[in-house]
Amino acid sequence: MQGGQASGTADLDQLVRSAREQIAAAPDEATLEQLRIDLLGKKGVMTATLRGLGSLPADQRAARGARANDVKNEIESMLTARTGALADARLETIGEREWMDVTFVPALARRGHLHPLSLILRDVKAIFSRIGYEVALGPEVEDDFHNFEALNIPAEHPARDTMDSFYLEGSPLLLRTHTSPVQIRYMQAHQPPIRIIAPGAVYRRDATDPYHGSQFHQVEGLCIDEDIRFSDLKGTIEYFCRSLFGADRRIRITGDHFPFTEPSAGAAVSCGICGGAGCRSCKGGWLEILGSGMVHPQVLRNGGIDPARFSGFAFGAGLERLAMLKYKIADLRAFLDDDVRFLRQF
Ligand code: PHE
Repeated sequence: MQGGQASGTADLDQLVRSAREQIAAAPDEATLEQLRIDLLGKKGVMTATLRGLGSLPADQRAARGARANDVKNEIESMLTARTGALADARLETIGEREWMDVTFVPALARRGHLHPLSLILRDVKAIFSRIGYEVALGPEVEDDFHNFEALNIPAEHPARDTMDSFYLEGSPLLLRTHTSPVQIRYMQAHQPPIRIIAPGAVYRRDATDPYHGSQFHQVEGLCIDEDIRFSDLKGTIEYFCRSLFGADRRIRITGDHFPFTEPSAGAAVSCGICGGAGCRSCKGGWLEILGSGMVHPQVLRNGGIDPARFSGFAFGAGLERLAMLKYKIADLRAFLDDDVRFLRQF
């Protein structure tokens, strides 16, 4: 019995020794956790030892029980101490394993964006939609009637010379020389009140220079209702120019002539590049941006509208001109070159 008692505490001493070694050698927190389960868990060595106490004679139970409890506490505090030490070590070296350079600036992804002509058209649409205008479209391949005849430009009319046209081979059709044929098409399909803008490409055989290209874009405007007067046209042009360019630009409205409007007026805006002094892109400080006038009674009739009851005004502006003015672009050809060094500036 003596020997049995002696070996009873000896196995506990042995258990403490081996636990101490294993805990000290545990390389990380996961290994420690496994040790805790093996030593102190429900199926662990300590639990089995404590459970075995019940079968001991009463005189041995107290001494061995006290020793077993001490061992259990000792193992617990060894585990806690080692866990803390490993955690401290992990935090001390975290700077080497996990770091970021807060001064690093990544290269920005270069995003695409709208072409300056699309930007200006978006502005124009927004400005006119605020005063009740809708967008109407028409074909770029036109017939003689809509492009010329219905607009009071008969076959021998000198106005045809100012719009030297591209005709389709073997066909009377042509590429529209202006957006005014959309006026006729819209009137044929709708009775007043009419308030539309009609943007789109137009084509002329003009020489290509800083001011002209054979393809460019216009935006047409048409307003027809009862009692529309010249003062409405003037107010609309001023509202439009001030909205697009800002109140600092000067606006000049002068007499002009178009076969399809009577009376006719041209509008120019002071050049944004030279400020009105005159430079290579503005010829004398002003840039003509639109032609306009009161719709000719015969044109109303051609569109199926009664000129005795209705009156209206129309205008046509060059979109490239508007963009050149707004963005201070000196050469109209830049719009078609697709040079990204130019396009990236918008
Ligand atoms: N269509 C004319 C042009 O291209 C502009 C214009 C439109 C003039 C509407 C008066 C009214 O020059």
